[in-house]
Amino acid sequence: MKNTKTLSVSAIENGTVIDHIPAQNLFNVISILGLDQLTESQITFGYNLPSEKLGRKAIIKIADKFFEDIEVDKIALVAPHAKLNIIRNYEVVEKRQVNVPEQIFNIARCMNPKCITNHENIPTKFRVINDGKVKLKCCYCEKDTDIEHMKLVNK
Ligand code: CTP
Ligand code: ZN
Repeated sequence: MKNTKTLSVSAIENGTVIDHIPAQNLFNVISILGLDQLTESQITFGYNLPSEKLGRKAIIKIADKFFEDIEVDKIALVAPHAKLNIIRNYEVVEKRQVNVPEQIFNIARCMNPKCITNHENIPTKFRVINDGKVKLKCCYCEKDTDIEHMKLVNK
């Protein structure tokens, strides 16, 4: 049932709305998508909005920007239930789920302090494994990094 008090992050004319982001991961999503590098796009954020499914959710609206699947799928690590709404002429013309990619390049750090990627300037590379729980297996040291302990490379 729709809430009678609708939330007030304004509608966009064209672009992408990423909804159902867990609030605590908004800044990780911004970082993974490199939104802080977009110098032209108008971006609005909603943070700590009430959500039935997530408790507190975040939403990102990026005007005049349309992503490739390969770009947005990376956020599935931190926002597995994120939904992309493609907006054209104020209408939602498409909804897309994100899918966890099979490999992750240079996004997460390896949890193993001895891993070469933590000592030399080498981009990290993981295979994503899902045995009930999503984990990242380092292609260099074979150690697993779980999502809860995952730290992003640019932090
Ligand atoms: N939206 C927007 N600008 C538009 C149209 C929609 O910013 N011109 C946003 C809405 O605010 C909403 C999201 O895009 O956050 C999806 O819109 P809609 O499908 O209308 O909402 P819901 O049905 O609530 O979405 P869901 O599928 O997530 O339940
Ligand atoms: Zn490693």
